[in-house]
Amino acid sequence: ALPHDLAGRRVVVSAGGTREALDPVRYLGNRSSGRQGYALARVAAQRGARVTLVAAHTADLGDPASVEVVRVGSALQLRDAMRDAVRGADAVVMAAAVADFRPVAHAANKIKKGAADPPPLALTTNPDILVELVGAREPGQVVVGFAAETGDESGDPLHHGRAKLDRKGCDLLVVNAVGDGRAFEVADNAGWLLAADGGETELPSGSKALLASRVWDAVAARLRPRA
Ligand code: C5P
Repeated sequence: ALPHDLAGRRVVVSAGGTREALDPVRYLGNRSSGRQGYALARVAAQRGARVTLVAAHTADLGDPASVEVVRVGSALQLRDAMRDAVRGADAVVMAAAVADFRPVAHAANKIKKGAADPPPLALTTNPDILVELVGAREPGQVVVGFAAETGDESGDPLHHGRAKLDRKGCDLLVVNAVGDGRAFEVADNAGWLLAADGGETELPSGSKALLASRVWDAVAARLRPRA
């Protein structure tokens, strides 16, 4: 049986990939099934938390039981939904794949095929939602990020992970080593859990639910005592 250690807590999880509209029918997007975020939401609910899942585009996943699901499309919509949802939350996990860029303009009508050159694609940078949430966090709120890292020349995805943890300012960072076809080929749902307080835990290959459990263990250990 799962521990009920998140009873009385409110947590927010983002999942899926954002879609940045070019016109009413086309978008730029990130590939993301949303499965890890859904597993995080499901496991948190099973452990007693009140859960809000902010879901961008995902595979066809059923809504997790006893979870409030808020659907969004673009990174800017995800940002707005997260700002609302994190009010009063004890923990926030950013598992969504946020598009780094969006088209500057969203055409009201479908962009037509012209005879000549293709239209230029002007992009602008999306906000880093995780960094913003860290900057605006309420006292005691635990913030978790995700990172898919390849190794560097020293062969160490953890090196990148540690730098990202510092840059983002979150409490915990789940680092998934993504393969370059050589030494770092590992299952998607394995990696390391890095903590701002210096902790470093290996996450052995296993189900997304198992990885979710390890993340909530680490979050639970950092929550303030209940008021
Ligand atoms: O910088 P990178 O995209 O590798 O960081 C990944 C982490 O940052 C994830 O937790 C992701 O949800 C979050 N992120 C974000 N806003 C962005 C880009 C990434 O919140 N624009």
